[in-house]
Amino acid sequence: MRIEEAKILAALPELGTELRREVSLAELTSLGIGGTTDLLRILRHEAIPSLLKLLDQQGVPHKFLGGGSNLLVVDGELPFVVLQLVKGEPEISLDGNVATVDAAADLGRTVTFCAKNNLGGMEGLIGVPGTVGGALRMNAGAYGIQIGSYVREVKVYRAAERKIEILRGEQISFEYRHTSFAPDDMMLAVKLELPSKPYPEILQGIRICNEKRRSSQPLGQKSAGCIFKNPPGGSAGRMIDELGLKGFSHGDARVSERHANFFVNAGQASAADMLALIADVRERVQRAYGITLENEVVVWNA
Ligand code: EPU
Repeated sequence: MRIEEAKILAALPELGTELRREVSLAELTSLGIGGTTDLLRILRHEAIPSLLKLLDQQGVPHKFLGGGSNLLVVDGELPFVVLQLVKGEPEISLDGNVATVDAAADLGRTVTFCAKNNLGGMEGLIGVPGTVGGALRMNAGAYGIQIGSYVREVKVYRAAERKIEILRGEQISFEYRHTSFAPDDMMLAVKLELPSKPYPEILQGIRICNEKRRSSQPLGQKSAGCIFKNPPGGSAGRMIDELGLKGFSHGDARVSERHANFFVNAGQASAADMLALIADVRERVQRAYGITLENEVVVWNA
């Protein structure tokens, strides 16, 4: 989608927002799949309510992009514009055991920064790609920990109220790969309260998690992490593997040989290839186990 409305174009500088034309989402997502659209890069949180009001008034549909690491975007010219936060300065600041982190900060760098300052707890998240905002929105987790456990406070643009609010951790429900935020809410910053631990001890935990991840996940390949959520008490990866589907493909969309719940773009996969693979594998698991796997990956269709 191309922004043509003069009112929007004229207002962008005072709203602290940069326009980039015809950006390819394939370049902004870890799967390397997705069509083109205009990208609005937001430099000032405070401008967000006015910017979104203007887009709505002018009838311009929009979606928020975090780090693009858990996202499958359709091909072609996209029927919406994309908004992305530009990292604030400083990205992370510390006050005792509380780290205030910009939502656009990289999750891995945040874990490392906190570790170097003797703040632990998030070791398991070290290899999870994407931004802190993205991790927060879906309550990212790995190796027994989830980011929601450390949230003291979140600064969020609430789409329904059209305003920026500060929510306390207790006001948010964090479940397995799910939070009580509305789909259109936009994470802006978070305060994480982390346990004190000596750096060498945290580093040891980080090394162990890195090693486990390296040995079980296809890290060098284009993927969106796990495609399906695990069903209660089960493992999507194990079920897909048991069905002999490692290497199974639709076009260049392929079930990873290393971890069956990772689907990789092995070349020039289209969104249609990936969606067909997801639907096919879901159906096979349903037939064999009577379980309907739910997407973990977020799909932007329209
Ligand atoms: N397994 C297989 N074959 C496979 C993959 C896994 O048999 O191809 C078996 C493993 O041997 C193990 C069990 O399935 O016994 C679980 O596998 P794993 O330990 O790899 O964990 P997972 O449940 O598949 C979850 C998260 C990952 C997270 C890891 C580590 C989900 C959907 N996935 O994977 O998160 O990194 O645990 O904690 O919850 C993600 O969210 O994108 C993600 C990758």
